[in-house]
Amino acid sequence: MPSDMLLEVNGLTKHFAPVAFGRGPLVKAVRDVSFQIPRGQVLGLVGESGSGKTTIGRMVAQLVEPTAGSVRFDGVETTALSRHAQRKLHAQVQYIFQDPFASLSPRMTIGQIITEGLDIQQIGTRGTS
Ligand SMILES: Nc1ncnc2c1ncn2[C@@H]1O[C@H](COP(=O)(O)OP(=O)(O)OP(=O)(O)O)[C@@H](O)[C@H]1O
Ligand SMILES: [Mg+2]
Repeated sequence: MPSDMLLEVNGLTKHFAPVAFGRGPLVKAVRDVSFQIPRGQVLGLVGESGSGKTTIGRMVAQLVEPTAGSVRFDGVETTALSRHAQRKLHAQVQYIFQDPFASLSPRMTIGQIITEGLDIQQIGTRGTS
């Protein structure tokens, strides 16, 4: 049965290890963040630079592993899924990057960029041209 809540984030927390040879304090990027997004609604996340917005988005999209907390997408606990099941979920949870120059690789053709995701998700059939 589909859940009314498309996204449920509970107690999401991320600590990054110090960059310089493991020394220095942990970067506490996100601390105990919870929110819900009902199906069909939109949430805007606003905050000063460095407040953790991108890190929250990356944890929701499973690009960064949370230190603590949970993410439920359409009733499914994403942090507990196998790598294979997480990869399937990537077809439904998309990240739209703000900077097109950072998201479109100049080393790839447009054809390669468009087909890469379809190949990974095994969607469609290969053309002949
Ligand atoms: N991979 C990483 N390793 C170490 N620290 C990181 C990493 N990614 C983010 N941080 C730190 O986590 C904190 C939150 O960063 P984040 O990019 O999530 O903020 P933001 O709200 O998206 O900022 P902006 O509005 O500038 O995009 C910052 O202190 C940042 O330096
Ligand atoms: Mg950001």
